[in-house]
Formats: sequence, structure tokens, C-alpha cells
Amino acid sequence: MQTLLVTGGAGFIGANFILLARQLQWANIINLDKLTYASNLGNLAELQTDKNYHFVQGDINNFELVSYLLSQYQPDTIINFAAESHVDRSIFSPQNFINTNVLGTFQLLEASRFYWQKLPSAKQKQFRFLHISTDEVYGSLNPQDPAFREDTPYAPNSPYSASKAASDHFVRAYYHTYGLPTLTTNCSNNYGPLQFPEKLIPLTILNAVDGKPLPIYGDGQNIRDWLYVIDHCQAIYLVLQQGKIGETYNIGGLNEKTNLTVVKTICAILDELVPQLNLSYSSLITFVKDRPGHDRRYAIDCSKISQELGWQPQENFDSGLRKTVQWYLNNSYWVNQVRSGAYQNWLKQNYDNR
Ligand code: NAD
Ligand code: TYD
Repeated sequence: MQTLLVTGGAGFIGANFILLARQLQWANIINLDKLTYASNLGNLAELQTDKNYHFVQGDINNFELVSYLLSQYQPDTIINFAAESHVDRSIFSPQNFINTNVLGTFQLLEASRFYWQKLPSAKQKQFRFLHISTDEVYGSLNPQDPAFREDTPYAPNSPYSASKAASDHFVRAYYHTYGLPTLTTNCSNNYGPLQFPEKLIPLTILNAVDGKPLPIYGDGQNIRDWLYVIDHCQAIYLVLQQGKIGETYNIGGLNEKTNLTVVKTICAILDELVPQLNLSYSSLITFVKDRPGHDRRYAIDCSKISQELGWQPQENFDSGLRKTVQWYLNNSYWVNQVRSGAYQNWLKQNYDNR
């Protein structure tokens, strides 16, 4: 079985990927995570006794630590999920995004390059560096524009997307300059279990069940494409197995929705699952001040991964959202844990002045 060094595996997508990888016996896993506010080791509690899973707390910026892990575990692949991932936080504190997304990815690439160059040739051929990126690097679409393709020019608009774009460019450069066998995936907005409730879908679910306002930025007509996290994890594994080195692959859910539609759909599911007397959760919807530089529309053309690797999303938005709402309702221990003091501070910082 292959060994993967996964970074950022205690966060939302990384944890879903690791759980699936161990469940389906895809690989042995080393998980390097700094354990920032967005992480939760509880996500991986069921792997505590798994001998083929190892957790290391550390920063991808720590070149010595990464080099040590590479020589110690001799992974066949690195998957870089580690990032600061929230646009609103990038507006308040862009520096963290430069440190992790740009400098951290650079250090990871450097350590990988030295490790890969010294591998025996058979193992060298097998090695892959898979970088997880976002559709946000392509900028914002008008309503009639075609969806983002892999050759759409980069036009990032937020400190978050600018930092991800920079990291993508370094990954590209390491392939072209040093021949490091890289792969990059650019996915749309993920949703599903284990997502930290600073992002729209879990924030809406948790606020609604608490009877708190459901904040919608601007007019609520901004459009995102929603990808169920398990579909994303399956796509990542496929790209690892069959992706062409040096290439990028767009991954989307084929679910373009306005934010208002997303929030109203969550409210309708909650009305059904946990009805309130004579009141719909949608009465909690509150329009608030817009996000500065708010991208209007993202849409992904995923015909490349579909035609070349045979991937299609399996989950439709209604079933995926229903599963997600149900997961948050069933996991009150997890929910209470993440809503610590630090989370309350974030809510104050982001919402009090809107
Ligand atoms: P997340 O914020 O939930 O988790 C990020 C994880 O990275 C956390 O566990 C955190 O502790 C860890 N981390 C942060 N800085 C680190 C550092 N310096 N060293 C080591 N670990 C560090 O993020 P996510 O939603 O799981 O996103 C994973 C990746 O997917 C990111 O690269 C993100 O840009 C990308 N992405 C996410 C989405 C989405 O909708 N969530 C969409 C497109 C792309
Ligand atoms: P988010 O989940 O933060 O992801 P991203 O900004 O990476 O797309 O936001 C999704 C959309 O929802 C985005 O258009 C901003 C909007 N939004 C709100 O309207 N209210 C909120 O409280 C949040 C967090 C997001």
C-alpha cells in the first residue's frame, strides 16, 4: 500500500479525505497539521488505534521537520491541503495567508524537491506532489460567462485567492523548472460533514437551530458552485492515480446556486426535520453589509476530469445538503466543541459591524 504525507489533514477536506483513505484502504497516512483554529483532531478520533495512521503536529513552513518526515516515512505522495482557507479572515488578517499559503507551500515544495531528487529511480517515477487549490484563483464571472476551465487566466480578487494563486504558480514552476511531478486541483466550494462553522453552510445550520440571524452578504445573489466533500475526495484520489503530471484539473459539483437559494434550502430542510411552531427558519434571514470585493459568480467546467479520468460528482445538491444538515443535527458534541471562545470572538469580529 502507498504511503501519503497529507498536510492540513485535521481540517475539513483533509479529515474527510483521510477517513475515506483509511476506510477504503487507499493508503497509509502521515498527517502533518499545525492545528490552527480551523482544525479539530476529534475529526480523526476513530483512527486513534489505526497503526497505519500517524499524526504529527507541525507547520508546513518548518523545512527541517518536513524533511525529517520525508526521510523517516519515505512517502510516495504528498497532498497539500494545509492552508488558511477563509476569505473573510483573509480580509481582516492577510499576513497569515501569505505565511501558510505562499511561504508554507514554497517550503513544502523545497523539502519535496530535495527528497524526490535523492529517491531511487523507480520510486522517483512514482512520486507525486498534489496541491489542493480553489476555483477562486480564476476571479469572478458575469452571469453569461462560460464556466472556469483549466486554461482560464488567473485573476484572484481577495487576499485568500491571491495567496492560493501564488502557491499554484510555485507548484507549476517546480514542475517546469525541476521536473518535480506535481498535480494541481482547483475545486469549487465544498460542503459536508466536519466543516468549521465560519463558512456559509455550517454557519447557517448552526445559527438557525440556535434561533440566531442568518446573515446574507449584500443582495444574496452571488453564485457559488457546491461540491459535496466526498465527491471531491474521490476526485482527488483519481487524480493521484491517473492524473497526468504537471497538469491541473478543475473539480466542481455542477450545482450553481445563489447564496439566498442555499440558505432558503437549508431552512426548508430544517422546517421539515426540526419544525418550529408556526414559524419557518427563513424568517431568520438577515441581509447584512457586503463583503469587500465580493466575487459575484464562480462556476466550474469539469469536462477535463470527466473526459480524461471518468469522474462525475455522485451527490446532487438536495441529497448532499440534507445529509449535511442531518450530520450537524446528529453531532452536537462536535458542534459544541468547535463553538469555543475563539469562535465567539470571530463572530463578533466579522458580524458585529455589518
Ligand atoms: P480548513 O481551513 O478546514 O483546514 C485547513 C487545515 O490546515 C487545518 O487543519 C489547519 O490546522 C491546517 N493548517 C493551516 N496552516 C497550516 C500550516 N502552516 N501548517 C500545517 N497545517 C496548517 O480548510 P479546508 O476547507 O479543509 O481546505 C483544504 C484545502 O482546500 C485548502 O488548501 C483550501 O484552500 C482548499 N479549498 C477549500 C475549499 C472549501 O470549500 N473548503 C474550496 C476550494 C479549495
Ligand atoms: P464562504 O462559505 O465563506 O466561501 P467563499 O467565500 O470561499 O465562497 O461563502 C460562500 C458565499 O456565502 C460567499 O458568496 C459569501 C457568502 N456568505 C454570506 O452571505 N454570509 C455569511 O455569513 C458567510 C460566511 C458567507
